[in-house]
Amino acid sequence: MRGASREDDLAYTLIAERPEDHDAIERVLDRAFGPGRFAKTSERVRERGAEFEPALSRVAVNDAGEIIGVCRIWRAHAGAPVFFLGPLAVDPSAQAAGLGLALTRDAVAACRAVGGQAVVLVGAERFFRPLGFTLIPRGRVSLPGPVDPRRFLWLELRPGGLDKVRGEVGPPVR
Ligand SMILES: CC(C)(COP(=O)(O)OP(=O)(O)OC[C@H]1O[C@@H](n2cnc3c(N)ncnc32)[C@H](O)[C@@H]1OP(=O)(O)O)[C@@H](O)C(=O)NCCC(=O)NCCS
Repeated sequence: MRGASREDDLAYTLIAERPEDHDAIERVLDRAFGPGRFAKTSERVRERGAEFEPALSRVAVNDAGEIIGVCRIWRAHAGAPVFFLGPLAVDPSAQAAGLGLALTRDAVAACRAVGGQAVVLVGAERFFRPLGFTLIPRGRVSLPGPVDPRRFLWLELRPGGLDKVRGEVGPPVR
C-alpha cells in the first residue's frame, strides 16, 4: 500500500515484512523504545511460542528504501484463536505523521483478510481507539506476566469474534 502523511512530507510504502528487513527493524525498535523493550510482558507471549506471521506484519519503507516503521503480528490462542499485535514502532524521525495508525490499520486488515476473529494487544487506548480497539473487560484475558488493564485492548474482526476469547494468551492450538 502506498501512503502519504497528512502533511504530505513523508511518502512511504507499506509491505509485508521480509526476512532481509530484520536488522533495520531491530534498529527502529531500539530507537523507538530505547532500552528495556525486552522486559515487557508482551515479549513473554512471543517467547512462549506465539507464532510470528511475517505475511500479516507490515513494515513502512520510505523513498530511500529505508525501514521507518513496523507493526508485527503473531498467531496466538486465548480460549480461541487470536492475533497478538506488537511491537508497533515508528522511527522517531517519522513519528506524528500518521504512519503508526496506517501501519496498524493495514496489519489489522491483513488479519481480517485471512479470516481472523480477534486481535489483542497492549498499548495506549487513546492511540488504538480510532481503529476500533476497546479495553478488555477486567479479568477476562491475561498474559504470562503483569499487564496494566488500562492498556490491555482487543478488537473484534468479525461478528462474534470475541465471544470465546478468554484466559491466558499462549501459543496457537492446532
Ligand atoms: C506510538 C507510535 C507507534 C505512534 O506512531 P506515529 O506514527 O507517531 O503515530 P501517528 O502519527 O499515526 O499518531 C496518530 C495519533 O495517535 C496519537 N499518538 C501518537 N502516539 C501516541 C501515544 N503513545 N499514546 C497516545 N496517543 C498517541 C497522535 O497524537 C495522533 O493523534 P492525532 O491524530 O489526534 O494527532 C510511535 O510514536 C512510536 O513508535 N512510539 C514509541 C514506541 C511505542 O510506544 N510503541 C507503541 C506501543 S503501543
